[in-house]
Amino acid sequence: MTTVRVDPATGLSGELRPPPDKSLSHRAAILGAMASEPVRIRGYLDAEDTNSTLRAVERLGALVQVGADEVLVRGTGLRDAVVPDGPIDVGNAGTLMRLLPGWLAAQEGRSFTLDGDESIRRRPVDRIAEPLRLMGAEVTATDGRLPPFTVTGGRLRAIHYELPVASAQIKSCVLLAALGADGATTITEPGPSRDHTERMLAAAGVSVRRNGRHLTAVNADELTLDEIVIPGDPSSAAFAIAAGVLVPGSRLLLRGVGVNWTRCGFVRIVERMGGIVIGDLEEEPGDEIATAEPVSDLDVAAGPLVGTVVEPDEVPLAIDELPLVALLGCFAEGETVVRGAQELRYKESDRIATVVDGLRALGATIEATEDGFAVTGTGGLRGGRISSHGDHRLAMLGAVAGLASKEGVEVDGMEAAHVSYPSFLDDLARLM
Ligand code: S3P
Repeated sequence: MTTVRVDPATGLSGELRPPPDKSLSHRAAILGAMASEPVRIRGYLDAEDTNSTLRAVERLGALVQVGADEVLVRGTGLRDAVVPDGPIDVGNAGTLMRLLPGWLAAQEGRSFTLDGDESIRRRPVDRIAEPLRLMGAEVTATDGRLPPFTVTGGRLRAIHYELPVASAQIKSCVLLAALGADGATTITEPGPSRDHTERMLAAAGVSVRRNGRHLTAVNADELTLDEIVIPGDPSSAAFAIAAGVLVPGSRLLLRGVGVNWTRCGFVRIVERMGGIVIGDLEEEPGDEIATAEPVSDLDVAAGPLVGTVVEPDEVPLAIDELPLVALLGCFAEGETVVRGAQELRYKESDRIATVVDGLRALGATIEATEDGFAVTGTGGLRGGRISSHGDHRLAMLGAVAGLASKEGVEVDGMEAAHVSYPSFLDDLARLM
């Protein structure tokens, strides 16, 4: 385990290009494997999670060629995934674990077992198992809901499925299964969540339509994608945004960041709290499904912060950045509250517990609630020691806390950042 000390900083400045988007990279590799013509992915994320996806699709029969700035995937087509000998290792990648079964469910009569690391073995798969079973696949999981689990493909029925929570992973799994079903599958969402899968499917020629909270995808014979370009990851950029907003006198320029409306919840929260982030953010989309992902540079500057309330409908649009909202809350005037975020308990760690315990150890006044947390700003953070608990976003949160703290922070388990952002510490160092 690596322990890294991050000392307090003043006036961060300079330019940064965040790494390519993790969510989009997973989807591009999986859709590439499902396509029958080669798909060129420009700017695929080279990190542990997304490398697990490349290995997984290779084991399912896809050919993967990794070049300097592109990855070429030659897939097997929608219904011809190869059964690997032994389980598919998803590593730490929850998105891979929840999306891939959507494709596998349509491989009639073939069984695939998925397993992963210690953290993955604590993350439930029951919410993808339910719709896949309703569609006609068989799913057997450890203790009924945990990995390792096995998906046996079947002749899939189109269904109307009401999502129990606004989760892009569950939605995406059902959308991928819908391609192999016998008609039009409709998913009703309680509220918006990231919409990358529907955009990429629309770009691949699939008939996918939205009518308010209802999303309908028609089964397909093939996907026609020849090139996918991956923008910078807004969730990775969020660490630099938080650092730029918190460290007095900072001014940063973040290049090439994905600004899809469903991913910009954090930027909207930061602006509401008084931080300065200037960029060409996408407006809230209507029913029309865009086929492209919008990109913008973001100009970030520090400003005095005030507390805010993050309501449940905002949560899916900032889900991976909520730990950073807690950090900003420590520096804001008044109280910052996040509600309706019980999903945080099922992430790479129980992020309600690890964020609250971690920040409290650094001097924060923060309480866990049933479905989120409440922070009382005290004008800063003392510093101290925090553990990543093997969670990449906790490790990076600790480092940003160190920059903004009075005494610095030691982060135990900093190597977890390699899951999504291998160059994180180097990038931070360049801003000092
Ligand atoms: C993801 C969706 C989110 C997010 C995860 C990536 C995705 O999960 O937390 O890191 O790529 O679809 P849920 O939508 O299931 O909450």
